[in-house]
Amino acid sequence: MKIVFATNNAHKLDEVRQVVGEEFEIVSLRECGIVEDIPENEPTLEGNALAKARYIYERTGMNCFADDTGLEVDALGGEPGVRSARYATDGHDDEANKRLLLERLQGEEMRSAQFRTAVALIMDGKEYLFEGIVRGEIALEQHGEGGFGYDPLFFPEGGELTFAQMSSEEKNAISHRGRAVRKLAEFLQKIE
Ligand code: IMP
Repeated sequence: MKIVFATNNAHKLDEVRQVVGEEFEIVSLRECGIVEDIPENEPTLEGNALAKARYIYERTGMNCFADDTGLEVDALGGEPGVRSARYATDGHDDEANKRLLLERLQGEEMRSAQFRTAVALIMDGKEYLFEGIVRGEIALEQHGEGGFGYDPLFFPEGGELTFAQMSSEEKNAISHRGRAVRKLAEFLQKIE
């Protein structure tokens, strides 16, 4: 079965393809002919994920899903949250975002945080939501070269490596998106 995933991010496509397995052909936005940026102006992760999925469904009529992820830092009252991509600037400047996060947490002892992913699926016109959370700690400095976004600053709970120091399989096994997408995959396998 073909399903559009609302991204062109190669890391995310790899992660999701690994989790969902081969029964489903995951098609990127570009592959289904959507080249413009889809607006993400909603105040919640769920709202953004649903808005992106609806945008694709309305234009292509294809079954599709979209995710939105936020890094929710306890000492910052859940910030950057839904604004994680645009924390430091209006662009998606990962380096500036990580710098700002470290700055805001300077001298802060409570470094607990979570990544939270909302996935919205539209299947034959019906809407479904799935959530995945991973708790962890924000590092004092960056560690590792892998992954993307805030990965070099995030130690998932119970481990000594940041997401950026893990292989994509290791990250997938415990990550927010891995968890949300496994829920999606279980759901899809039931209705197949
Ligand atoms: P989005 O879901 O792609 O909109 O993600 C929002 C922001 O969170 C972006 O700045 C990403 O870099 C960051 N982000 C999303 N997923 C991850 C992840 O798995 N690791 C690290 N950062 C992430």
